[in-house]
Amino acid sequence: MKRLQKVIAESGLTSRRKAEELILQKKVKVNGNIVTELGTKVSQNDRIEVNNKILEKENKEYFLLNKPRGVITSTKDDKSRKTVIDLINTTARIYPVGRLDYDTTGALLLTNDGDFANILMHPTNEIDKVYLAKLEGIIKGEQINKLKSGVLLDDILVKATRVKLKKVIKESNSCLVEITIHEGKNHQVKRMFESVGFHVEKLTRKRIGIFDCKNLKSGEYRKLTPKEVQIVYSYKK
Ligand code: URA
Repeated sequence: MKRLQKVIAESGLTSRRKAEELILQKKVKVNGNIVTELGTKVSQNDRIEVNNKILEKENKEYFLLNKPRGVITSTKDDKSRKTVIDLINTTARIYPVGRLDYDTTGALLLTNDGDFANILMHPTNEIDKVYLAKLEGIIKGEQINKLKSGVLLDDILVKATRVKLKKVIKESNSCLVEITIHEGKNHQVKRMFESVGFHVEKLTRKRIGIFDCKNLKSGEYRKLTPKEVQIVYSYKK
């Protein structure tokens, strides 16, 4: 059972907020009866009408994008910058699963399936988000251990599941570090490295769950297969 306004929004007809307005304006019927209660729950078998038109369900769509630098991870931008949605050819109302910063590149999933997105984002499902960070300076074992044992971000302890020094670049006094986390807090990787004294010069997400961009060039995307979608559903704890 799902809330009526959520089902209307997921159909792609309108936003959740507009759906709530339509309900309050008595423009929504469930099984022929006008509903005005915003908390009303409906099942897949209920017949929903909006403005006397049967609600058609939008097909679920799933994409993996190799996000380029200089694109924002949002459905729209008030400064008219290019968004990740502009890169994908679909009429479905898809949105990004979590966020990558404007200057971060790599694996980003997009969908119009809220349950799928929640599974990937919820830390209890322990889905790996693997990043490769280029740091200014050269990290030491002690600082790597600190990232693994946990650092405080906004008074909350966050830990890296794995941290691996991949390469030391002596000429530029920098290094490449692979870090795996399960949460997706704002600027989490950059803030974790800042908290042990390192500035992140470049950041790429190499993998999220089973999805990597090995066969996708920067800016390219592909649809997920039904099997891949099923695998994500199996992650739910
Ligand atoms: N952590 C960050 O700091 N930035 C991102 O884009 C993703 C994770």
